[in-house]
Amino acid sequence: MALIQLIYLSSLSDIKLEAGIAKILQSSIRHNKVNGITGMLLYANGNFLQVLEGETESVVETFSRICADPRHYDIVELIREPVRERHFSQWSMGFQHLSEADLRAYPRYAPFFRYRADDEAICASPGLALDLLRQFSIDNR
Ligand SMILES: Cc1cc2nc3c(=O)[nH]c(=O)nc-3n(C[C@H](O)[C@H](O)[C@H](O)COP(=O)(O)O)c2cc1C
Repeated sequence: MALIQLIYLSSLSDIKLEAGIAKILQSSIRHNKVNGITGMLLYANGNFLQVLEGETESVVETFSRICADPRHYDIVELIREPVRERHFSQWSMGFQHLSEADLRAYPRYAPFFRYRADDEAICASPGLALDLLRQFSIDNR
């Protein structure tokens, strides 16, 4: 069976929903355990960056549920490709809320969390999204 990795960017619909991210995470972990999905969710300044990995069918089904979720919008798929092995196998869904200090420490990733003004720059270098997700999964604390 083929493993794929899907990475997308989106924005929180309303900043008042920020307190509800823990709930999103809880239900994500619950579903992902059942569906064999692993990955990482990053959040900063009203924006999400998420990687989902698993069997093609499970990832596609999960992503279509995620796309229909009104808690976020402006969903931009950056990467959807086959992978030989999982990069985030430890997490049903890891999570990091990045601080201003994190963003300052890694300026090359700043466009991802600059209120989406830099979508073009982001789409031009999708590999950077994976680097960013891996960086903060290593730093997971
Ligand atoms: C930014 C974001 C990331 C999400 N990630 C996942 C995920 O990894 N897996 C998942 O099943 N649902 C995820 N969801 C939630 C789904 O959109 C959907 O609400 C959920 O799967 C429905 O299940 P529930 O009714 O049991 O909560 C995410 C939602 C948002 C807004």
